[in-house]
Amino acid sequence: MNNPERTCGLAVLVSGNGSNLQAIINRIESGDLNARIACVISNCPDAYALRRAKAHGIPAVIHENSAYASRREYDAALVEILRGYGVKLVVLAGFMRILSNVMVEAFPNAIMNIHPALLPSFPGLHAQQQALDYGVKFTGCTVHFVDCGTDTGPIILQSVVPVEQADTEESLSARIQIEEHRAFPEAIRLFVEGKLAIDGRLVRIQS
Ligand code: GRF
Repeated sequence: MNNPERTCGLAVLVSGNGSNLQAIINRIESGDLNARIACVISNCPDAYALRRAKAHGIPAVIHENSAYASRREYDAALVEILRGYGVKLVVLAGFMRILSNVMVEAFPNAIMNIHPALLPSFPGLHAQQQALDYGVKFTGCTVHFVDCGTDTGPIILQSVVPVEQADTEESLSARIQIEEHRAFPEAIRLFVEGKLAIDGRLVRIQS
């Protein structure tokens, strides 16, 4: 059983299904990841991920876009919520909002995102369709720290997925998600165990 005083408090930010959230929960519950999810926060009130959080006794917070006039005001309120839960690492797991410098500066090198392509290829939305349209033979997923750009922060882990000729956006996304569910909890484990050293753009993994 994790000791809440000693384990790293995570916030998982979501907007949709939450399969990556589930993978993180499963890895913690298996005893393989020494962290605790202090809260799950969604900007979408009907996100299925909120139900997953509640099913595991994790505080589920709705923080809606519409209540704030600007991105910076939204983020300032978000920082307050995260501080209130004692969060040390913010995990973006399908959170469909771009963060402002307010969040990035409040959690320097302590916000992670997962992207369904091998960055710097195919940043932004519909990365899997971008890969299919370009005709690449391999794509995958990238876990990276978040900076003020879109999908531009220092890369922590990547996993390669071959593209098949018959792939659709759905079939390719499904195979990439299998890799996401392995890579994201692994990157979080490296962070909470203090094994990630950031040197400019380079993230060195210490053994
Ligand atoms: C994932 O494909 C992830 O790469 C992208 O958003 C999706 C979230 O999926 N950032 P889920 O909500 O975790 O199932």
